[in-house]
Amino acid sequence: MNLKDLYIEFFESKGHKQIPSAPVVPENDASVLFNTAGMQPLIPYLMGQKHPYGTRLCDYQKCIRTNDLDSIGDTYHHTFFEMLGNWSLGDYFKEDAIKWSFEFITEKLNIPLEKFAVTVFGGNDLIPEDTEAINLWKSLGIKEERIAKTVEDNFWIAGETGPCGPDTEMFYWRSNDPVPDKFDPEDSRWVEIWNNVFMQFNKKVDGTIEELPNKNVDTGMGVERVTSILEGVNDNYMSSIWKDIIEKIEEFSPYTYQEKPESMRIIADHIRTATFIIADPAGIRPSNTDQGYILRRLIRRMIRHAKKLNINIDLPFEQILATMIILKYVKYYPELNTNKDVILEVLHNEKVKFNRTLEKGLKEFEKVTKNSNEIDGVTAFHLFDTYGFPIELTTELADELNIKVDVDGFNKKFKEHQELSRTASAGKFKGGLAGDSEIETRYHTATHLLNAALKKVIGPDVHQMGSNITEERMRFDFSCDHKLTDEEKSEAEAIVNNWIKEGLNVRCDEYSKEDAIKSGAECMFIEKYPDKVTVYSIGNDEVVSKELCGGPHVKNTSELGEFHIIKEEASSAGVRRIKAVLK
Ligand code: ALA
Repeated sequence: MNLKDLYIEFFESKGHKQIPSAPVVPENDASVLFNTAGMQPLIPYLMGQKHPYGTRLCDYQKCIRTNDLDSIGDTYHHTFFEMLGNWSLGDYFKEDAIKWSFEFITEKLNIPLEKFAVTVFGGNDLIPEDTEAINLWKSLGIKEERIAKTVEDNFWIAGETGPCGPDTEMFYWRSNDPVPDKFDPEDSRWVEIWNNVFMQFNKKVDGTIEELPNKNVDTGMGVERVTSILEGVNDNYMSSIWKDIIEKIEEFSPYTYQEKPESMRIIADHIRTATFIIADPAGIRPSNTDQGYILRRLIRRMIRHAKKLNINIDLPFEQILATMIILKYVKYYPELNTNKDVILEVLHNEKVKFNRTLEKGLKEFEKVTKNSNEIDGVTAFHLFDTYGFPIELTTELADELNIKVDVDGFNKKFKEHQELSRTASAGKFKGGLAGDSEIETRYHTATHLLNAALKKVIGPDVHQMGSNITEERMRFDFSCDHKLTDEEKSEAEAIVNNWIKEGLNVRCDEYSKEDAIKSGAECMFIEKYPDKVTVYSIGNDEVVSKELCGGPHVKNTSELGEFHIIKEEASSAGVRRIKAVLK
């Protein structure tokens, strides 16, 4: 039986109700981008709210942790993983929790005691050593030398604040080396497989700890690790969860897994996480903020490693791998099937988009690193903003050349940029240009081109008076005292299409509001803009358009497709309106 089914069946037999896995993007918790543990969607209930399913719950939960992307590539880290959990909401406590964990491990999973060890909370100024847990483990036959006490590692909390408590963690000896008698939790051959948290406190923002109304139990067992243990492999990627994915990657690449394990693991890991993020009901798509930015980084990092493996990027390898993931998990997560088409489309589009700027970006990277042994924050941000290089890509490339990157400097610029684009997509100062789906982003850039083209055809007094974008079309209002002639319309259309064909780069710079105006950038309602503004310039040698704008925009006009004016009409006195589409 599958581990997930076995777990649920076991805890149901102990009076638990199975609850469905929550989406990966938390529904009512803006403090985290993704659910990082099974307990996260349950926080209100751990804090005392009544749960509709009762006081004993169990589930398997999709989790995503991306704080440590650099660790992906080893044998046991994953950005996406499944966590099995059972909870007591003021019901049973330590004794049953430990007893049932032990029963499941020894009787259902048949893990030999020989390879088993535990850690328990060793005590601090506020909370004493967990003698109860120690005695419970001893009563179940665990020898003293296999019980280690720690303080920091045996107190669990999801972030800085919230429900928390001392815990006891279970470990398995995952190695072909002989098992030592004495357990050392620092020895990485001992891997943690399950954590039982005795959640009876709440840590407040001021750092103080208060008792919760209930004494709860929160547990978490990692599906990937336990699966590899049950299958007797020392590398998670060689378990049945991954093996076929790795083999498929080997088919696409001239290299074997033995030759290039890291890149293959990164591709396998990132494609699975990206697939689950896109499938989530939150509708996350690649972008430059929040979850969308994580998704973009995962896909782009995967593409870059595919290139390192000499995989032919033009083949639909990402769609084939994603389809394998979907089939593998659809029984447990039906949203994968419902959103299958969009998963495949988003992965493909992001690949194409990134591939277009990757070569140019690599040339730029070579240029900036030729005579320098450090990449400053501004340059790293330029590589991101103009060539779509996520910071990991820049640091990975730099590492290969032994060059340092000012990641803090990049993060600072990135944060400023994110704040600007958030304000922008909230529609606060964009004059009607809210929304940033991919097609809307293209229309957004087309608006700038049309504005510039009309100035060329009609005269410098043409100014934007308003605009509105939907996924289907753009609408652009501008000052002009006459109905456009057919010649004027086709000329404006031809100029825009010419700029699209030329593949002009779209560049984003930050200015103070004053300097932006001085630089001659177009701007509609100056009073609506914050003091620090972004200016988008379009052009290669010659800049054809320069406007104050919060974005987002495409990186290069070649992404726009064909531009057609479908209607020109009066909007109000002295204002004309053009409707146009991109095909
Ligand atoms: N919430 C606990 C963990 O994630 C079980 O380890």
